[in-house]
Amino acid sequence: APDADVFAFGASFGIDRRLVEDDITGSLAWAAALADAGVLSAADAAAITEGLEALLDEARRDPASVDGPDEDVHSWVERRLGERIGEAAKRLHTGRSRNEQVALDLRLYLRRRLPRLQALVAGLVGACAAQAGQAGDALMPAYTHLRRAQPILVAHFWLAHAEALRRDHARLDAARRQAGRMTLGSGAIAGTAYEVDTAALARRLGFDGVVANSRGATADRDFVADFLRAAALAMVHLSRLAEDLIVFGTEEFGFFELDDRVATGSSLMPQKKNPDPLELIRGKAGRAIGLLTGWLATMKGLPSGYNKDLQEDKAAVFEAEDTLAGCVPPATTLLPTLTLDRDRAARAASGLLLATDVADYLVARGVPFRRAHEMVGALVRRLVAERRDFDDLSMDEWRAVSPLVHEDVRQRVTARASVESRRTPQSTHPEAVAKSLDAVRAWLRAAG
Ligand code: ARG
Repeated sequence: APDADVFAFGASFGIDRRLVEDDITGSLAWAAALADAGVLSAADAAAITEGLEALLDEARRDPASVDGPDEDVHSWVERRLGERIGEAAKRLHTGRSRNEQVALDLRLYLRRRLPRLQALVAGLVGACAAQAGQAGDALMPAYTHLRRAQPILVAHFWLAHAEALRRDHARLDAARRQAGRMTLGSGAIAGTAYEVDTAALARRLGFDGVVANSRGATADRDFVADFLRAAALAMVHLSRLAEDLIVFGTEEFGFFELDDRVATGSSLMPQKKNPDPLELIRGKAGRAIGLLTGWLATMKGLPSGYNKDLQEDKAAVFEAEDTLAGCVPPATTLLPTLTLDRDRAARAASGLLLATDVADYLVARGVPFRRAHEMVGALVRRLVAERRDFDDLSMDEWRAVSPLVHEDVRQRVTARASVESRRTPQSTHPEAVAKSLDAVRAWLRAAG
């Protein structure tokens, strides 16, 4: 008999019980394949199928029933099946190993669960698009190095976040495809000695095909790393969105304000309104990154073939899934409660950050860009020292900068004119932004 403590240490049932549905799905298919191959009698196959279906039903109706002293979910299914149908249960594991089974289960699980994560991410894209729509023609400064850079539409800001999240949606889709090969027929490592139709098994289980090499397949967890990477990057994007909203919501920036319902107070300072949910999202991104790097470290030294280290994959997958599924909904709830301070954001979008527009004005009058850059740089230095702005310059002062400057400089050097001067489809020009928003809305309709 195993030492109780060591057995408990090696047991994974507490974690992998979450695979019960997938384990039974895989076993139903395996029983059918064994019957088709003439390994199981029709009567045994029918008993096994009936027993597994009843077990699945019970597990779904009463998740707490998936419990016991078993080592893992596979052992639980086998034991419970035996209790239901007797001897015939002992034939189910013919030609099969838990090594290929657990790899199959986790693949089935991800293929089943990833669309749910994608739907959550699409919901957040929708919230960004709604904010972009509400922002209309509102202006804000865009920052590089967290210094004011150039004016953009607030909608452009939101659509940048929507775009990152759309890439996450696509990455989750790719992760689903990476988990798309069926492992049954691999045995413990060398393949199975029974003539099962693996292609038919793959079709039945909704896979895109069968693994190419049994030795590789039983130890391959690349699809786990692919998923963890997709989840980690999505969390990185949530974190950057959170960080933007935290910074732009401070008293110093004051572009957005969180609703009281999604902010918290301080136990001491009566004036405080803290963006706790955003900070938690930012904080949890660190865990998601850790799961990916931790998993890569677990895999890197393994000799080929199954090793028990691989059992650690499920805890990482479930935690990454729970982290992402836990963070997207609060972000999606929080976004529509934001109020935009249009005046303040617009005020911050004018002033010396229009320097590029002054340079472009001179370029349009024939000044070489490098020369214009120098001239405007000197002008900005002077204005900073005098605590003044382009707005304050008299026409005489403008003409002292260059005789090429005309009256129209006043209309050309504004935040509005700046965004309207952009020409490319990815720019902040209002028409380009409107088109991007349309594209996101069409994508949302297609993503359903
Ligand atoms: N609980 C195990 C896991 O998650 C199942 C596979 C066990 N295989 C073995 N050879 N011990 O990896």
